[in-house]
Amino acid sequence: MAAPIALADGVHFVGAFDPELRLFDLIMHTPWGTSYNAYLVRGREKTALVETVKHGFEPALLAGIGAAPIDFVVVNHAEPDHAGALAAVLERHPGATVVGTNRAVSFVGEQLNRAVPARVVKAGDTLDLGGRTLHFVPAPFLHWPDTMFTWLAEDRILFSGDVFGAHYCAPAVFDDALDAAAAADLAAARRVYYDAIMGPFAGHVAKGLQKLAGLAAPAVIAAAHGPVLRATAAAALADYRAWSAGAGPKKAVVGHASVYGYTKALAEAVAAGLRAAGVATDLLDLAETDAEQAARVCWGADAIALGSPTINGGPAPQAAELLARFDPFRAKGKLFAAFGSYGWSGEGPDVLVARAKDLKMQVLEETVKVAFAPTAADLGAARGLGARLAAALAGAAPTAA
Ligand code: FEO
Repeated sequence: MAAPIALADGVHFVGAFDPELRLFDLIMHTPWGTSYNAYLVRGREKTALVETVKHGFEPALLAGIGAAPIDFVVVNHAEPDHAGALAAVLERHPGATVVGTNRAVSFVGEQLNRAVPARVVKAGDTLDLGGRTLHFVPAPFLHWPDTMFTWLAEDRILFSGDVFGAHYCAPAVFDDALDAAAAADLAAARRVYYDAIMGPFAGHVAKGLQKLAGLAAPAVIAAAHGPVLRATAAAALADYRAWSAGAGPKKAVVGHASVYGYTKALAEAVAAGLRAAGVATDLLDLAETDAEQAARVCWGADAIALGSPTINGGPAPQAAELLARFDPFRAKGKLFAAFGSYGWSGEGPDVLVARAKDLKMQVLEETVKVAFAPTAADLGAARGLGARLAAALAGAAPTAA
């Protein structure tokens, strides 16, 4: 076992690497694997472990901790990829006190099915380790209700939990050890991570960033996944500010799955209607686009028009999967319309509309459905659907034609 990597004198990385992981939380593929980052902070009198690791990776964590006595385990976020090794840590260090928000302590109790010695912290609370002071900054919904930042003031190290993280298992602990290609991959992985994990909570991200504004600029961002950020700490902060700001021109996506080209023709007409009204519109062939990538494009849109044929009474699986990748946090308020060509029944778009309503999207009640090949009039109706979506985006309430 190599010696733990120092972030500063007395502050060490003791996390675990999971280079083979290819699917995280069932929702995102992780081509670069990931890491579960944990950090040991030693003061003159006390030692704190910030985060643990996922269950199954205890040996790496315990080896990194070594013989150091642990007085506190800071749980910035109690999702089991970080709290999963807590049981093993508390077994090895039964005198340790868990430190976290009220919800984090509650979640830990429900995972271990027992009460643990705990200190619930609130905004402004601190923990003096002796010459090193941890400051706690609760920031709920980044991306669970339990989340907080921990700020090590003396070393200007921000332990940020999932925030600023990336599923990127690097051969080095620090970002400044990466070559240019790896650094570009890390930046891409951070954006994918933001979209998949933080995107539904952009408003909370913006509030959380405001809470950091009162601190000094971090010299180091020690997130819970991916390399420790030194060279790119400021860039990561700037990225998160930009991504969570949510301003900018309205965007639409017209997604379609088409067997014989009829629904595709309708999709092109819907997109033409949107574009004629000045709305930036992506046209996505869902059968040709990676499902995660299609979802990411749609997550960032203000309006979604989804076209599908009808296959045995339902929509095409690609169209259904696109909406399956939404949740109510992400979907709420987005404009939605459905359309499609069919052969002999035509329920596909209706099933999509029902799902969109369950997701709390604003559904344009008009649905363009066409038997087999669209006529010029059908294409005009599809173009009109796009125009009405554009009008709704501009501020009018969505209405039937
Ligand atoms: Fe990395 Fe939300 O757990």
